[in-house]
Amino acid sequence: MTFVVTENCINCKYTDCVEVCPVDCFYDGNNMLVIHPDECIDCGVCVPECPADAIVSDADPEATPALLALNAKYSEIWPNIIQKREPFPNADELNGKAGKLADFSPEPGEGD
Ligand code: SF4
Ligand code: F3S
Repeated sequence: MTFVVTENCINCKYTDCVEVCPVDCFYDGNNMLVIHPDECIDCGVCVPECPADAIVSDADPEATPALLALNAKYSEIWPNIIQKREPFPNADELNGKAGKLADFSPEPGEGD
């Protein structure tokens, strides 16, 4: 089992999650973070920290095969992030918006 960042992170990127992860396994994309499935120790402490409820277990129906593949792929490419940053300016408005996967950006973020 691992934990997975879901599409509601896209264009919100609150980054509260990175501050609590004991193994620093979040990776930074242009408009979303992902979790490295082989580094995550399944502790679950990041789940309640996300204001967008965008972190779920891979056993959750929200963890679609596409999202599992996206987390696995981009956690190998994007830079590590361990420090919280400002969320996107309109994060609260976009929290819960449907169809966010269409806005996914494969470009890397700044990392730390
Ligand atoms: Fe990190 Fe634990 Fe969240 Fe996995 S479940 S990403 S180890 S805080
Ligand atoms: Fe994304 Fe939630 Fe972390 S919105 S950056 S998974 S706190």
